[in-house]
Amino acid sequence: MTDSARRIVLASRPVGEPKPSDFRLEVFPVPQPGPGQVLLKTKWLSLDPYMRGRMSDAPSYAKPVGIDEVMEAGTVSEVTASNNDKFQNGDIVLSRAGWQTHALSDGSGLRKLDPKLAPVSTALGVLGMPGMTAYTGLMEIGKPQAGETVVVSAASGAVGAIVGQIARIKGARAIGIAGGPEKCKYVKEELGFDACIDYKAGKDLDAALRAACPNGIDVYFDNVGGEISDAVLRNINFFGRVALCGSISQYNATTPPMGPRLLGTFVGKRVRAQGFIVTDFASRHEAAMRQMGEWIRSGRLKYREDVVQGIDKAPRAFIGLLRGENFGKMLVKM
Ligand SMILES: NC(=O)c1ccc[n+]([C@@H]2O[C@H](COP(=O)([O-])OP(=O)(O)OC[C@H]3O[C@@H](n4cnc5c(N)ncnc54)[C@H](OP(=O)(O)O)[C@@H]3O)[C@@H](O)[C@H]2O)c1
Repeated sequence: MTDSARRIVLASRPVGEPKPSDFRLEVFPVPQPGPGQVLLKTKWLSLDPYMRGRMSDAPSYAKPVGIDEVMEAGTVSEVTASNNDKFQNGDIVLSRAGWQTHALSDGSGLRKLDPKLAPVSTALGVLGMPGMTAYTGLMEIGKPQAGETVVVSAASGAVGAIVGQIARIKGARAIGIAGGPEKCKYVKEELGFDACIDYKAGKDLDAALRAACPNGIDVYFDNVGGEISDAVLRNINFFGRVALCGSISQYNATTPPMGPRLLGTFVGKRVRAQGFIVTDFASRHEAAMRQMGEWIRSGRLKYREDVVQGIDKAPRAFIGLLRGENFGKMLVKM
């Protein structure tokens, strides 16, 4: 074990798009576990869009990261020293150790992972928070029925890729929206969506949606907000359902963007829209994980990871995630 550990702290609150200087890499001595504690060494660090919200002190459902505090994150970590009866050296655990190579824990909130069941990195992706978001948001709010049309934005990403595949498993048509021909090809050919619309191709999005969804749109799983969602919602069917999962197109916005006001359409069409946070459906996660595990083993559910190596790469990779530079679940391998 090296004697020094590294961490990335929030140096300043970004205005607009985060800059590398909003983060600071610090070196610190590897901490020693006290009574009841374990020392965790990070193996995988998850980068997720919600972290942009934690960098801001605007009112939110979650507490912001403080200036000079370690950036928050889910991690897959190895127990390398233990003074806690429940954990032994070598245990692999899901934790929230943040953007750092080492952390102490009293064991609360740690979940042991079995590397024989699935690659441990999946605990941060398809079998973790993004996968649970996709499954529960789609099943509890979207409620897709066989033969219906489900549209999902950010379709090649950690959440969107899973949403469309589950929609297909449930007998619905799945239409993705993603940025660029490579991502769209993957969504259609590898993941088996019925179609994928490249919103960066400069075409009329309304016309593209009407062509891909001749029977209209019954369910919209919204990951991006903004103009993409305006176009989808203009084409929503009577009694449509909208799972409001995220608005990544606006996370770096400094002023609230104006949009068409579609709420009147929702009235006439009896559309039901619900925002949600993955933890709202925590009681469903265990069953969802079991089901998703079966689908992965039988080859019905595919996932893709986008991996960068080393904690020093985390800020750039995170900035890229907010620009759409990632292709799959964004992870840092330590
Ligand atoms: N409610 C919850 O509990 C919950 C939980 C997890 C995630 N989320 C939300 O779900 C969404 C997807 O998260 P994820 O983890 O799956 O991320 P992701 O899709 O793996 O990565 C983000 C993707 O968003 C797209 N994007 C970035 N900027 C955009 C823009 N200006 N306009 C349109 N698309 C843009 C990019 O794809 P393209 O290249 O295709 O544009 C990018 O690859 C996010 O909004 C996130 O905040 C919500």
